[in-house]
Amino acid sequence: MNILVVGGGAREHAICDAIARSKQATLFSAMNNLNPGIEKLAVDYLLEKETQINHIVSYATRKNIDIALIGPEAPLEAGLADALTKNSINVCAPLKNAARIETDKEWMRNLLTKYRIPGQLNHRTFTNPKETKEFIEDLNAQIAIKPIGLTGGKGVHVAGDHFNGTDEAMSYVKEVIQNKIGGAAKVLIEEKAVGEEFTLQAFTDGSHLVPLPAVQDHKRLLPNDRGPNTGGMGSYSCANGLLPFLTKHEYDEGVAILQKIVSALGKERCCYIGPIYGQFILTKNGVKIIEINARFGDPEAMNVLPLLQTDFIEVCSAMLDKTLSKKDIKLEKKSTVCKYVVPEGYGIKSMAGETININEDAIQNAGAMLFYASVNKKNNHITTGSSRSLAVVGITDELAEAEKICEQALTYIKGDHLFIRHDIGTKKLLEKRVHHMELIRGTK
Ligand code: GLY
Repeated sequence: MNILVVGGGAREHAICDAIARSKQATLFSAMNNLNPGIEKLAVDYLLEKETQINHIVSYATRKNIDIALIGPEAPLEAGLADALTKNSINVCAPLKNAARIETDKEWMRNLLTKYRIPGQLNHRTFTNPKETKEFIEDLNAQIAIKPIGLTGGKGVHVAGDHFNGTDEAMSYVKEVIQNKIGGAAKVLIEEKAVGEEFTLQAFTDGSHLVPLPAVQDHKRLLPNDRGPNTGGMGSYSCANGLLPFLTKHEYDEGVAILQKIVSALGKERCCYIGPIYGQFILTKNGVKIIEINARFGDPEAMNVLPLLQTDFIEVCSAMLDKTLSKKDIKLEKKSTVCKYVVPEGYGIKSMAGETININEDAIQNAGAMLFYASVNKKNNHITTGSSRSLAVVGITDELAEAEKICEQALTYIKGDHLFIRHDIGTKKLLEKRVHHMELIRGTK
């Protein structure tokens, strides 16, 4: 089968790696940047902006693609899945109307309200900054301010982290509305949920859901969750599928919410096929929804896809044939720790163009996996781009051991002006998370 993966980041490298493990697959890629990992796995690739729909559709048609997978959100919003489908290519990703669950945060909140889906947060949308003051004051400025559309995970500002008090909140509200951040002259204001965040990804065929292990991402740039928000600096998952602060019951609450969202989408005639992603927060009042994404997470895809034992093409086929309930999908019960290597200044002003020396064999021998992201390759030299460069994932039974493997593997990546959040997956940070939840639950 000819499989096309759209996207050139580390998440897409992980998707390509899962596909390449299938004996049935011949891999093709459409990517904006030449990802050296994908280049090695694919028989052919198209270097193209991932929202250039016509070019990607004509490439897919020429290459007789049987199934296409779309990694990033921008092509989903641009209607790539719809265009491929119109050209008789099966797509394991939601059409534009279903992808609104990610691309239109107001629509997502309205869907939750309409179908009385648990986990909703107190929220309102505004087009006039002056009208927001009362709502902000009602919530004592303990709010999250969100652009309605896509911002690459960097547009959300949260009280205490990015601003303090009503005046500073209103100043960002004005900025979002006046500059149409996220594509619309509108802002979503939500109550600030306090707790620990977790990601739950799942496969769905539009009715049945196969949940994957819970993952915790680290959005802030600097150790101890300081600094600006990023696309995600790294993530971890545990062999039992839960997280050190997350019970099975709470995990199941997240699964039930995702299941209800998929059913609601079906009732809205927005049938959803492909991976779905719930960003949840565990609060003193239970599991709440931060956002829903219409794709795998980045970095979270790298925590789950390497564990997939069932042939990924069979999983995709079961999603497309709507036979997921009949499929026994198996994953290795292992812990994972993923850490991104980014250029110094990432999230502020990246020092791009620096050479990175990577010893791929040593990384593999250490028991880790390497996924390339935003790098450039010239004359066999890898250099940093302005975004995240590459990710290393340690995989083994125990979380502490997976963290050590990841750190060992990171020593085989050398270069000036690189930055890594070394605290991800460490005992100290995990204990802090557990303690935080104990305080919130009132058990300590
Ligand atoms: N890890 C955040 C995201 O994929 O949106």
